[in-house]
Amino acid sequence: MFGLNGPLRRRFALGVRTADQRHVACESLTDIRRRVVVRVGLIFWVVSAVAYLVGCGETVNQVAMDTPADVPLSIPELLEPTVDMAGVAYYDLKIGTSRHDYQQTTLTDTYSYNGMSVLGPTLRLKTGDSVVISVTNELDQITTTHWHGADVPAEDDGGPHSLIEPGTTWVADFDVIQPAATLWYHPHYHGSTAEHIYRGAAGMIIIEDDNPAAATLPATYGVDDIPVIIQDRDFTEESQLDFAIDAGGRGNQDRTLTVNGTINPFVEVPRGLVRLRLLNASQARTYNLGVEGAEMIKIASDGGYLASPVVLDETMIAPGDRAEIIIDVGESSAALVDDTFGRVLELRPNGSVSSAGPLPDKLATIDRISESEITVDRTFHFDKIGDGWGINGVLMDMNRIDETVRLGDTERWTITAETGRHVFHVHQTQFQVLSINGEPPQPEEAGWEDSIFVDPGREVVIASRFNSYADNDTPYMYHCHILDHEDLGMMRQFLVIDE
Ligand code: C2O
Ligand code: CU
Ligand code: CU
Repeated sequence: MFGLNGPLRRRFALGVRTADQRHVACESLTDIRRRVVVRVGLIFWVVSAVAYLVGCGETVNQVAMDTPADVPLSIPELLEPTVDMAGVAYYDLKIGTSRHDYQQTTLTDTYSYNGMSVLGPTLRLKTGDSVVISVTNELDQITTTHWHGADVPAEDDGGPHSLIEPGTTWVADFDVIQPAATLWYHPHYHGSTAEHIYRGAAGMIIIEDDNPAAATLPATYGVDDIPVIIQDRDFTEESQLDFAIDAGGRGNQDRTLTVNGTINPFVEVPRGLVRLRLLNASQARTYNLGVEGAEMIKIASDGGYLASPVVLDETMIAPGDRAEIIIDVGESSAALVDDTFGRVLELRPNGSVSSAGPLPDKLATIDRISESEITVDRTFHFDKIGDGWGINGVLMDMNRIDETVRLGDTERWTITAETGRHVFHVHQTQFQVLSINGEPPQPEEAGWEDSIFVDPGREVVIASRFNSYADNDTPYMYHCHILDHEDLGMMRQFLVIDE
């Protein structure tokens, strides 16, 4: 649909690139690269996208960066709570079927929350809030809704044990005890997670707090603080979603990029600092994102602010990952770009000026976990098991508790993989990366995470303090966030118990 046009090809022809760089473009998917602060420019992105296609033989509908984007970015509405006398905020979600205009042709059957055409409203919570969220299932099948990245009691976590039968309502009730962050919610019914998310059921959660260091950051939702939910999709000839599970090491990867359900989007923004909240809600695809026309400054990882802003040339987001970035938009358009798809989102100045800024030097104090705090060590190995995928030699069993963690312990987990590409995600806790292949994390990886990329070339060591909630009966999940793998068994369960 969006082919490479003449000017792009000319630039490719003009750019002097070697076989090495083609190799790098392919390898970049298995290797987080943090390059020094150099503006590489449009040519790099075009070339690496083309090189990727040539070198790795993948075809996608690439968006040409030198033509204006077609469609205004859809911004999910904010869900307003009702607040009772005691200050408790009540949110109501309803998951059901809907129809969405993805392709400006035929309407596509989708799932969504609250009658939106696709996806769900954004929940904006505040640290210290007490919230009650009801989820009513208007589908004709069982589902669940999980708060990905949230530190909540196990029975409120919405994992695969918190079934919501058709026509019934499940209620989660928790206090927001974690700092500002971008989280998300999505179905988590074992065996159907990939399909329910693929059909459109997912939404963003924004947690805000009173951190004075962040007070000058852009924070006006939909104006200079933009949700960017990235998903790749395939469509049938009838414009319907072409869902498939791919048992291969990469999972199912599709050809058309959507942002908040919009194909080839632009968003009008003020000049000055603009925040993008990036969420990879794809089934299996990893993106290597950069910014064209301005610097990309990463300010937050999965679990909240980094210690300080980090200027990056590229950031990799694997399925489940979030990153918050700041772009200082000038007089002309800037763009979020991916090295496979080309342009992801055009940021078009609308003539107004952002009231945000300046960008602070320090954002948060990250209390790093030291070796001496570690009380328990565990190892996790991701591998193929028959036609499925497993962890430590077994497939998911809903009736088996795999690990028991004691409340108050600080655990160190070493994660490796045999074959395939994986994303380690753990519920309830935000962890820190201690090392990747023996090296300490780069500044942009040294904050809080709940999802991290793992493949056979990487040994990832993480640590976590289990110091919030315990429940002797209800487990939390940890799993691969490549949804094909998760549904095919790459998930296990742990209890946090208070003894
Ligand atoms: Cu995004 Cu187990 O979750
Ligand atoms: Cu989760
Ligand atoms: Cu996996």
